[in-house]
Amino acid sequence: MNEIDNIRTSVLSRIKPKEPEKQKLVALADNLISRINAIGISEGLDISAILVGSTARGTWLSGEHDLDIFIMFPPDVSREYLQEKGLYVARKMAAQAQSSEERYAEHPYINAVFDGFEVDLVPAFGVASASEIKSAVDRTPFHNKFVLSRIQEIEDDVLLLKQFLKGCGVYGSELRTHGFSGYLVELLVIQYGSFMQVLEATREWKPGMTIDIEKHASIAHDDPLVMVDPTDPARNVAAALSLDKLCIFMDKAREFLKNPEAPYFSMQAVVPLEDSDFKNIMGERGTALIAIEFTTPDVVEDVLYPQLHKMEDSVREMLERYDFRVYNSGVWAEEKAVLVFELESGSLPALKKHAGPHVWAEEHAAAFKSKYAGSNAFSNVHIRNGKYMVEIPRKYTQAKELLEAELPKCGLGKHVALSIKKEYHVLENEQMLDIREKNFREFLQTFFKK
Ligand code: UTP
Ligand code: MN
Repeated sequence: MNEIDNIRTSVLSRIKPKEPEKQKLVALADNLISRINAIGISEGLDISAILVGSTARGTWLSGEHDLDIFIMFPPDVSREYLQEKGLYVARKMAAQAQSSEERYAEHPYINAVFDGFEVDLVPAFGVASASEIKSAVDRTPFHNKFVLSRIQEIEDDVLLLKQFLKGCGVYGSELRTHGFSGYLVELLVIQYGSFMQVLEATREWKPGMTIDIEKHASIAHDDPLVMVDPTDPARNVAAALSLDKLCIFMDKAREFLKNPEAPYFSMQAVVPLEDSDFKNIMGERGTALIAIEFTTPDVVEDVLYPQLHKMEDSVREMLERYDFRVYNSGVWAEEKAVLVFELESGSLPALKKHAGPHVWAEEHAAAFKSKYAGSNAFSNVHIRNGKYMVEIPRKYTQAKELLEAELPKCGLGKHVALSIKKEYHVLENEQMLDIREKNFREFLQTFFKK
């Protein structure tokens, strides 16, 4: 056996579900499906439950106990009817679960735990073709059919690619990750034929490229990677994938081809940063760290993370507008949300050079001169390179003061704005060591090391 085969075998022995796991999963899925169908019959509802997602396709990673069960309604019922009856059936099921939670995507669904398995119970319209979908989740049963018709014999390659992407930290299409979805991985393996052939293919990849298995694309997309959905010519399966997550994969694929090793398939453990390490690192870097801490709004991750990143962008922009140069930034959230900014310096001199209009713009010139004449400026209004110039006191010399005073004026998403309005704290340098959560300390480690 060659080196690659050895790696394949040893990685697969770890990630490929074995018979008992498969049987347990199939038994649970069958049981849940017949219970949903029984509720349909006793309530006089024309519904049928189906298993979709990676567990229906034999492409789930061992130990990922997640079942996607769809409750299919006739396509001609109204959205209101589907939401009401769908939730009614899902709630009846959830009443017998270990725990459950209502979640909202395009319409409400339920995530419940049965027998230690996380089960999504999702109502959907059983439309005749993917081009007639009434809600985004209606595509999923078509994905299932397509993948099942093409995936035989290459399931192991899907598992390997999923695990490789996990090792690179780029698996998962949630708006928190911006990485590769399970369906995208399946389509890549179908397109190129095997795990190794996908890696080889990435050497030719350029951002903006399109893969169109069915050669039926109907519209153009402006995304780093376009994988035309074989079941829907207008949809890009890779729409959530960011340029950097795509490039991380291309880079790691190249490294692996040069030097194939099993650790590429494992996530590197991140060591939480200790107080003393933090102090040393900050001392060596010579930069300033500013954190904004507030209560995480109670919304799903796909709503939360875009709002956190929007806040990150607008705070960065505000800091730069007030002359604080931002080197790095990042977001972290559990019960508390924390935005961290690394600055060239957290304090600036009292003096600020302020430029005015060109001397030949007479009416502006007069206004500028009268505004600053005799004010508490450090200098007279003078001329530099044809423009009026004055040296004045800076409004905020400390980044911390700026954020304490002006943060609520930043452009913020709805839920984040509400939380900030109630309360937030600005922490500077060692003050953020008061945040003791292990996951935050891991985040800080990655923040510095990248
Ligand atoms: P999952 O997120 O559970 O993915 O969505 P998966 O394919 O089962 O992969 P893993 O192994 O759990 O990570 C279930 C199905 O919903 C559709 C796909 O058809 C997917 O297989 N889906 C999900 C999308 O079309 N887009 C998404 O962003 C997420
Ligand atoms: Mn799944």
